[in-house]
Amino acid sequence: MDAPTSAIRPFSVSSHPSVAVVGAGVIGLSIAWTLARAGCRVSVFDRGPVGGGASNAAGGMLAACVESEPGEEALVPLARASQALWPGFAADLHAAGGIDPELRTEGTMVIARTADDLGRVRFLYDFQKGLGLPVEWLPGSEVRHREPFLAPGIGGAIFCHEDHQVDSRRLVAGLHSACVNAGVMVSAGVPVARLNHTDGRVTGVTVGDTAVTADVVVLAAGAWSRDLPGLTDAGRPPVRPVKGQMAAVRMSAAAPLLSHVVWTPGTYLIPRRDGRLIIGATTEEAGFDERLTAGGVMALLEGAWRALPGIADLPLEETWVGFRPTARDDAPILGTGPLDGLVYATGHHRNGILLTPITAQAIAALILEGEMPAVATPFALSRFHPARAA
Ligand code: GLY
Repeated sequence: MDAPTSAIRPFSVSSHPSVAVVGAGVIGLSIAWTLARAGCRVSVFDRGPVGGGASNAAGGMLAACVESEPGEEALVPLARASQALWPGFAADLHAAGGIDPELRTEGTMVIARTADDLGRVRFLYDFQKGLGLPVEWLPGSEVRHREPFLAPGIGGAIFCHEDHQVDSRRLVAGLHSACVNAGVMVSAGVPVARLNHTDGRVTGVTVGDTAVTADVVVLAAGAWSRDLPGLTDAGRPPVRPVKGQMAAVRMSAAAPLLSHVVWTPGTYLIPRRDGRLIIGATTEEAGFDERLTAGGVMALLEGAWRALPGIADLPLEETWVGFRPTARDDAPILGTGPLDGLVYATGHHRNGILLTPITAQAIAALILEGEMPAVATPFALSRFHPARAA
């Protein structure tokens, strides 16, 4: 990733700016909640239902360590910083919204199911260990001891005791409730018709026929972020949808087949407290194609069944599609851009749930104090236009 070539102070900081947030996913809602608690007047608009983009579709893994792959080193400090915020964030949110996001802390395993998987998983382990991440290698016998319903013959696994999960749908509901309790006006099914600006400065948004004035507009529209009418060409974030198909089967909540999050090549399994087992996910360049495909669902179920044969007898409860908001370098876009008063919080790709607390904290700091914490500054939009920003 190119380093940003300038630090921009985007707008004069007023003590309690009015803020319009475009996007009622976990990123937009968490920013709105944080700002409202600081005394700002905040409105959130979404073209669809609250959480109806990537948020409700997400697996909810907080996998700062085991999802780190070569080429993603720059993201690790941000991901780890957010991971560290999660316990406090979950507790605060539970208290403020009355809905427990169900942070589960059993940890995550990446299993090598076959001899062929072993080389790849060992390579990942060595890479993650080399980054100083808290991963350990478990022999196959130990993996089966911890998760007895996994298939026999497992060659070993990466285990991370700091990579956890939350229930993403409960997180959405909790954030929505916390926002409402904090006085945020949340409008769902209300597309923003236009971003308004004059002389290089944002003045608000138009919703329907109504101009809503705001000192600051936060663009948190996930995979739809580049389509907001009124964005300038230079200010259009290079974010595209990356489709994921997912499924859920129903285990017994009292006697679940799995307690850890388990990755197996091509598939992951996330056991929820209520007995749902989430199975994800395909990764497809298919635009906003909302269709489930036979091949996609078959790949999910086969991958899950090979790792956890007992799922064959479980009811298939739900299948769905989500769209990861993905920038050219798979990293989020955080901070300012060419228009004063327009703040970006988008492009979180596979990591939106994980990065929610640090994004809320960083964007609130930018809006209230004029700058983000250092861990967030490498992710400015200007990295895609280094010459222009210089
Ligand atoms: N973070 C998991 C996924 O994007 O499928």
